[in-house]
Amino acid sequence: MSKQRVLTGITTTGTPHLGNYVGAIRPAIAASERADVQSFYFLADFHALIKCHDPALVHQSTREIAATWLALGLNTDNAIFYRQSDVPEIPELCWMLTCMAAKGLMNRAHAYKASVDANLAAGEDADFGITMGLYSYPILMAADILMFNANKVPVGKDQIQHIEMARDIAARFNHHYGEHFVLPEAIVDDNVAVLQGLDGRKMSKSYGNTIPLFLPEKQLKKSINKIVTNLLEPGQPKDAATSTVFQIWQAFATPEQTAEMRAAFADGIAWGEAKKQLFELINSQVGEAREKYEALLANPKHIEEVLQLGAEKARSHSKPLLEKVRAAVGIKKIQ
Ligand code: TRP
Repeated sequence: MSKQRVLTGITTTGTPHLGNYVGAIRPAIAASERADVQSFYFLADFHALIKCHDPALVHQSTREIAATWLALGLNTDNAIFYRQSDVPEIPELCWMLTCMAAKGLMNRAHAYKASVDANLAAGEDADFGITMGLYSYPILMAADILMFNANKVPVGKDQIQHIEMARDIAARFNHHYGEHFVLPEAIVDDNVAVLQGLDGRKMSKSYGNTIPLFLPEKQLKKSINKIVTNLLEPGQPKDAATSTVFQIWQAFATPEQTAEMRAAFADGIAWGEAKKQLFELINSQVGEAREKYEALLANPKHIEEVLQLGAEKARSHSKPLLEKVRAAVGIKKIQ
């Protein structure tokens, strides 16, 4: 039986944080070790250009994200790990799909609609500041996915609509030009924690409430100390269910450790003590990887080599598929 293809992209516009680790990186690395799965993980740097027009930031984020995944032990003999922009077949396929994608479908994309709504609420023109990149971004995402005939696409809830659009576009293409693409399915794993950030809202770069994954030890400690708590004193029982400290603890702890911490909360553990233990727990799990991360960033050539090897493997899939797709639409040598 052929392996299930699991594919996901990481937009290169930020520094990986604990929420990315728990919600995406850790499960993705675990999945890539399954014998029945062929995983494709890529740095979505073309997607980065939609939100970020600062070249230094895009580049820095690409290095950091690549180094993070490698430092955490992604086995690139197993997983195909590449940078989107190293696979020129993707933007070419994107164009072919653009010519099959209904404009009306793009009008309904959440990200685009949210921008329009924000403009209207601010009394601006509906299209103020909206680029064609933002508008047609679901088609680029469809190209990322269909290029490798991915069966499963692990994503956050906010991305489900994009996978449905990829299916729509693929179905339309297949209907018109013949069966070329697998219809992908989103997988949203409800067991994977959506981590809370410093202020208790979802940990997200857009809220500025993140704890970067590989902060140097001292800064990690400081950052954890900034997690918002209530004013309960040591000795006063604390509610685990509503505590960000506890929620993050749970994402890193064994079930036994979680039960212990729950009991400690009921016993009135001091916030300072709970945070100290949280720091120690996280530090013990990321400390080794942090050293590898620093070493990788000090030797970026190695990162680049790994990505080039990944691109070669990715292209061994994308080139033949694109060749067929070109022929199917009538783009071929005259003979
Ligand atoms: N748009 C996705 C996000 O913001 C990242 C992404 C780009 C992606 N291309 C993809 C995810 C293809 C899955 C498949 O999270």
